[in-house]
Amino acid sequence: MLMNKRILFVGGKGGVGKSTSAAALALLHAKEKKKTLLISTDPAHNVGDIFHKELTNQPIMVLPNLNAIEIDPALESKRYIQSVKENIHGVVKSTMLDEVNRQIDAASSSPGAEEAALFDRIVSIILDEGEKYDTIIFDTAPTGHTLRLLTLPELMGVWIDGMLERRKKRNENYVQLLNDGEPIEDPIYEVLQKRKERFAAVRKILLNKGMTGFIFVLNPERLPILETSKAIKLLKNHELEVEGLIVNKVLSEQVEGEFWKKRKETEREYVRWIHKEFKNQDIHFIPLFETDINSVDLLEEYANKLATGSRIAF
Ligand SMILES: Nc1ncnc2c1ncn2[C@@H]1O[C@H](COP(=O)(O)OP(=O)(O)OP(=O)(O)O)[C@@H](O)[C@H]1O
Ligand SMILES: [Mg+2]
Repeated sequence: MLMNKRILFVGGKGGVGKSTSAAALALLHAKEKKKTLLISTDPAHNVGDIFHKELTNQPIMVLPNLNAIEIDPALESKRYIQSVKENIHGVVKSTMLDEVNRQIDAASSSPGAEEAALFDRIVSIILDEGEKYDTIIFDTAPTGHTLRLLTLPELMGVWIDGMLERRKKRNENYVQLLNDGEPIEDPIYEVLQKRKERFAAVRKILLNKGMTGFIFVLNPERLPILETSKAIKLLKNHELEVEGLIVNKVLSEQVEGEFWKKRKETEREYVRWIHKEFKNQDIHFIPLFETDINSVDLLEEYANKLATGSRIAF
């Protein structure tokens, strides 16, 4: 489940180990000589820390066969607005340009603008850069953001359909009233149509189970279990199926002392709950390490545990 997809999304609650798991999965793919791209879409970046490399919005090689990008939503938003302005430039009358630019600037500071820009970048990575890589792994922001992001192609599709419909009506009226029935060219209609096609293409890729996989990371604790369960159901409503779970930071059986023995006992109950709640999932357990996973050596150890995959809790 973890190794045979072209695109993997790694999601989960804050702090459970998404970035570590995404990096470990990327490492496993790269070791199999697959050209791999690891993308962090989280504003609180930490993929760079693991590899001790300063990452940017363009791919940088962090290990053989492994490139990584960190997408900064604020920067992405600026670039996106610039490209929208350039697109519009040739389309509207020059007398209107100042007003249109003002409108675009206003829109760019509205809620959701960064999200839209981030999404646009993800779309372009999947569609335009996908060819260059065997595997693309997304380390996503905590659950809520990711769910919105993944369901955006569907929502945007509906929204653009509405816009297209209105423009079509307007064009038809215009043609009848002013253009003697001759069809007119409408560049905005074409831009919208193209966006719609790109979103549809991405949605098709996301829905293709042979191609795209969704993995959730959780810890054997109450809130991550509840949140994972909710997220899986929500994605299912959008026909996106989560196939794999990584249960991270599981305590060793060899814990000593009353306190830790008690904690381990509580954890066992959560593990039982996980097995019951997520029957159809491929579940991998990873132990709690003595320290943070902050070096490539430790990441390799983490990756090996993922690859050998303990399916039952130890
Ligand atoms: N199995 C583990 N044992 C010990 N430490 C771990 C383990 N897995 C992850 N960590 C550490 O826990 C911290 C959080 O992990 P990570 O950054 O991967 O989580 P995240 O889900 O990406 O967090 P965020 O939601 O903030 O992006 C990091 O310091 C990481 O090194
Ligand atoms: Mg992270």
